Amino acid sequence: MTESKINDLLSKMNLDAKIGQLNQYFSRGHFDPEIIRQGKAGSVINAAGALTGTGESKSSTAEVCNDIQKLALEGTHKIPQFFGRDVIHGYRTIFPIPLAQAASFNPELAKQAASVAALEATATGIKWTFAPMIDIARDARWGRIAEGNGEDPFLGAQMAAAVVKGFQGDDYSASDKLIACAKHFVGYGAAEGGRDYDAGEISEPTLRDIYMPPYEAAVKSGVGTLMSAFLDLNGIPASANRRLLTDVLRGEWGFDGFVVSDWDSVRELVHHGVAEDEADAAAIALHAGVDMDMVSETYLSTLSASLQSGKVSQNDIDEAVRRILRIKLRAGLFDQPFTDPDRVTRDLLRPNSRTLARQFARETMVLLKNEANLLPLDSSFERIAVVGPLIHARSELFGSWSPDGRATDVTPLDEALKQIAPAGMKLVFADHADKAVHVAQSADAVVLVVGEYPYRSGENSNVSDLSLPPGQAALVETVATLGKPVILVVIAGRPLAITKQVAQVQSVLYMWQPGIEGGAALGEILFGLESPSARLPVTFPRATGQVPIYYNQKNSGRPIRAEGPFKSRYVDLANAPMYPFGYGLTYTTFEYANLKVSSETLRGKLEISAEVTNSGKRAGNELVQLYVRDLVGSLTRPVRELKGFERVILKSGETRRVTFTLTEEALAFTRADGTKGIEPGNFQVWVAPNSRSGLQASFIL
Ligand code: BGC
Repeated sequence: MTESKINDLLSKMNLDAKIGQLNQYFSRGHFDPEIIRQGKAGSVINAAGALTGTGESKSSTAEVCNDIQKLALEGTHKIPQFFGRDVIHGYRTIFPIPLAQAASFNPELAKQAASVAALEATATGIKWTFAPMIDIARDARWGRIAEGNGEDPFLGAQMAAAVVKGFQGDDYSASDKLIACAKHFVGYGAAEGGRDYDAGEISEPTLRDIYMPPYEAAVKSGVGTLMSAFLDLNGIPASANRRLLTDVLRGEWGFDGFVVSDWDSVRELVHHGVAEDEADAAAIALHAGVDMDMVSETYLSTLSASLQSGKVSQNDIDEAVRRILRIKLRAGLFDQPFTDPDRVTRDLLRPNSRTLARQFARETMVLLKNEANLLPLDSSFERIAVVGPLIHARSELFGSWSPDGRATDVTPLDEALKQIAPAGMKLVFADHADKAVHVAQSADAVVLVVGEYPYRSGENSNVSDLSLPPGQAALVETVATLGKPVILVVIAGRPLAITKQVAQVQSVLYMWQPGIEGGAALGEILFGLESPSARLPVTFPRATGQVPIYYNQKNSGRPIRAEGPFKSRYVDLANAPMYPFGYGLTYTTFEYANLKVSSETLRGKLEISAEVTNSGKRAGNELVQLYVRDLVGSLTRPVRELKGFERVILKSGETRRVTFTLTEEALAFTRADGTKGIEPGNFQVWVAPNSRSGLQASFIL
């Protein structure tokens, strides 16, 4: 049905109409209605105005989108527009940043949050979001680590599939669903030195086994569109890579949606040095498989002449148009091109959306240290000093990419804590260092809130030093020397190297950028209404010099545990991270025992189980993790790989056996001959609370 409709449309379109569909228009502050009327755009990005960053930027409105849609439908070619925007971790109800979402290890919550974002964004006319960002990141210097799911392909794939489903549902023609865009295909997180936009080198097996699984999962869950990355991967800029965009994505994985370039990245092929000029750039990108040109207008300005000169083929143009029309048809735009303007009052910031945002925020905060069970703070503490530069945080709780969030929707952190503190506990506040010392001196305990402002992570916000921002380490030191119990709360868009600060304080709670309900969620955890349950989705280095650092590393010929002095190590620093992937504490303790493997040999599948006991005094929520190691391969294999995780909620003293099923398929990898499959041999397996501990057994494949 869809395909015959596409053929019908294509047969009626002249060349200009076709090329127009391949162009995504950005008004740069001077909207030109003729572009739409004459069919020179297939999509409009940021319809209501230029993106101005966090805070009070101009949001899109149904009226603006409807007006533009009318122009399109009255115009020469009558093909509906669709309106794109970066709806990354919420639209108006801002959820935790994606990296924090991954720390929940709860794909279902991520799906629900994406579904709220879709409801809100579509109420303002947007039909297409440039999310999820599913780039694996092994280097915390890279600012965009905040936007993804961390370092692990298994977790990354689960989160990617869930978020795509949340945005799109089963049928994105529904008026409250958005078309998702998995980005940035592929390897973007490997930019050298953590410098955004820079080049990266990734071997084919690593590309396939580490960077690609989230994309394959997104394609399997029906993602409508993909975005090509900015990066130059192994010498080929992503928007010029036909092998990846066409052979792998469409050929191997069967993706039938369309690919949009990243912002201006078609034209940038000239800067990369693979294209002579804009015409060359457009021809290369189109042939590679980039169907829509995001804002560079090189398709619009050059493709017609390039067709005449034989530089591009009619078939390449037609195929790109076909894919774009396919998604427009699937999105129901021809039947339902307009948005009901009344939805804005009904669908934005619904009370249950805020409730979800609070729950999600709670489930993303990672307890890293809790000496002598200082947390939760109960009413035996009469006076708590809450100090630090971020104690009044409002939009600072949003993190990067929250252009439609509003500071006025947020209860400031200090206010939220006051509202939640138990009766009889007095909170005193100070945001400046000198006052902080003063109020801390007279308190029973200190909550010290430090970390990053939103613009310090995200796109184009890389750092060369993972320490706390300037001045904050000194503040921690000063407060710590007062001798009061100190709880360090870190707001951040990346893992920071806080080795020294961890040693100086009694408790550390890593809250990332938790979104609109972050203050209340923090209060609920600090004061014990809820327990922390999140785990690190990324390795925390001791110092910047350890990066890139990740748990699923290779063993090397001289691993750190080897005999003798000559081994893979630093002379000035331990190899072990500050905190490993998968790490996180709760308000109770858990013990693991009686590991069982259902058979010595895996044939088809195997069951691995262990008893988990809540050995502490409070109820708690434990994330039980399954890891494997393939001991010998035709290519070297990671020292551990996550293959499963499951949450158990146990009362004090309660024991439960947690069982994982491991399939042959889960052990497949890219082998020396380039094919994907399993290799027989010996394996180790762990049921573990994090990637560096646990109970271990073996099996044979
Ligand atoms: C970013 C993309 C984003 C696009 C549109 C680019 O600079 O890399 O992630 O979707 O802008 O705003």
